[in-house]
Amino acid sequence: IASNITKIACIGAGYVGGPTMAVIAKQCPHIKVTVVDINAQRIADWNQIDLDRLPVYEPGLPEVVAEARGRNLFFSTDVEGAIREAQMIFISVNTPTKTYGVGKGMAADLKYVELCARQIAEIATDDKIVVEKSTLPVRTAQAIRTILDAAATNGKDTQLATSRPKFAVLSNPEFLAEGTAINDLLYADRMLIGSEDNEDGKRAEQALADVYANWVPRERIVTTRIWSSELSKLTANAFLAQRISSINAISALCERTGADVDEVAHAIGMDSRIGPKFLKSSVGFGGSCFQKDILNLVYLCRHFNLPEVADYWEQVVKLNDYQKHRFAKQIIDTLFNTVSGKKIAFLGWAFKKDTNDTRESAAIYVADELLQDRAEIHVYDPKVTAEQIYGDLEYLQKHRRNDNPCTATQFSALSAVEIRSLVTVHDSPYEALKNAHATAILTEWDEFKGYDWQQIYNNMLKPAFIFDGRNILNRKEITSIGFELKSIGKG
Ligand code: UDX
Ligand code: UDX
Ligand code: ADP
Repeated sequence: IASNITKIACIGAGYVGGPTMAVIAKQCPHIKVTVVDINAQRIADWNQIDLDRLPVYEPGLPEVVAEARGRNLFFSTDVEGAIREAQMIFISVNTPTKTYGVGKGMAADLKYVELCARQIAEIATDDKIVVEKSTLPVRTAQAIRTILDAAATNGKDTQLATSRPKFAVLSNPEFLAEGTAINDLLYADRMLIGSEDNEDGKRAEQALADVYANWVPRERIVTTRIWSSELSKLTANAFLAQRISSINAISALCERTGADVDEVAHAIGMDSRIGPKFLKSSVGFGGSCFQKDILNLVYLCRHFNLPEVADYWEQVVKLNDYQKHRFAKQIIDTLFNTVSGKKIAFLGWAFKKDTNDTRESAAIYVADELLQDRAEIHVYDPKVTAEQIYGDLEYLQKHRRNDNPCTATQFSALSAVEIRSLVTVHDSPYEALKNAHATAILTEWDEFKGYDWQQIYNNMLKPAFIFDGRNILNRKEITSIGFELKSIGKG
């Protein structure tokens, strides 16, 4: 097992692999970093001359790529070549929630990770450190280990046991948040490395710690046993999501009682035991991690026969479903109980600002519910493409979790044609808003605050409703123009 790393490969050029490797390459000019993906288009996009068109939109990323690409950062489709060459291989492929079979809708789908492990085992001719970087359930490292060991023996019987390559498996969860990825990577709160409890494991742990030590202070590099590291990732995301569901639960109470959820959040956040961050009430959390990780945690708890623990965490997801549903229902109720044929403008589609990622975005679910009532939805998002928006809605028709307890109505699946006839995507927010019955703010993009709301008001139908799912607008200003403003958690 190598202790001085000069060649790194990363399998998976997505939201995690791309930015993470770009920053490692930037901070470690002496290490050659090769990012590979089976998706040729994605790799071509990473190699774009025009840095504004990288496949991942992330503030600061173009500058980092500009500095390192072609120097010691490479994007390629040659997965085998990269594996063969590297001393250290990050597995950064997607681990979505399973949509079929055992654990459907709950467990993480490890098929892509498994394929990577098999491929590494097959190709490796020298020792490799394999780093799991995707979010994975506890004990995935063990699965990788089993595959590597089995495949290493398989078909190589003629080789002497001593000449077979050795593998060390590390867990190195990524805690970056999208929209702030570069900053989170450069100034990480901590880097967590879990290793196997043996000599090779320790050596691999040291090798990876040395890579990060090029820019992360040593005291922020935390080492644990491998299972603790894996579970820490799930737990961190579960705690963060729980804070949002907790404040969103209180937002519903605020609306009934006349309290203001932002005032409540501010007041409790000043307790140093609670802290001020991550207490912003919203239309509901989205993103590829929170729901997936919690469902995964729930699945694990059920598997280990801990139903009370499973139910406790599952409630965080149910409350989030409830929050999205509450928002959609409020729009329908306010618009005199029907949105059929009415023009509803959506400002924002991404799951949060400063990203083009839409996975599990609340906007998708709110739109879906309004479309059941045949609303005409007009979307503007500064970074999300029309094809992405249509794709998200089409995907949901096939994979709707039909156990959602808060939507009493049975949803019927819309065809692609119906979706395209009811949903229009605009390049200009003012076009999206023209003659609309209502505006719904789904993402907290900064630019929304600076719009000419007087002009928007003049061009909307009256009464002009705004449903501010992110509480970004100034109530005084907006209502003095004449809007009817509905915010989250403001009684
Ligand atoms: C999250 C974790 O923050 C990160 O550490 C982990 O590595 C991956 O998952 P991410 O999903 O990229 O990161 O973004 P995050 O900022 O956590 O936001 C998740 C969702 O919660 C977004 O939809 C956001 O709008 C919402 N949110 C966040 C709130 O509604 N209120 C808040 O106070 C914070
Ligand atoms: C609590 C609140 O902290 C305080 O702000 C409020 O005004 C009154 O209620 P108190 O009940 O006196 O104060 O003590 P606290 O330190 O909060 O502990 C409450 C219980 O939680 C104790 O049984 C304590 O042992 C337990 N606890 C606390 C834990 O089990 N783990 C912890 O990490 C913290
Ligand atoms: P994440 O948010 O975890 O980074 P993404 O879906 O953005 O998830 O990225 C994962 C990437 O991994 C995708 O670009 C996908 O094509 C790639 N991928 C999945 N399986 C493999 C594989 N076996 N070999 C190479 N790349 C893979």
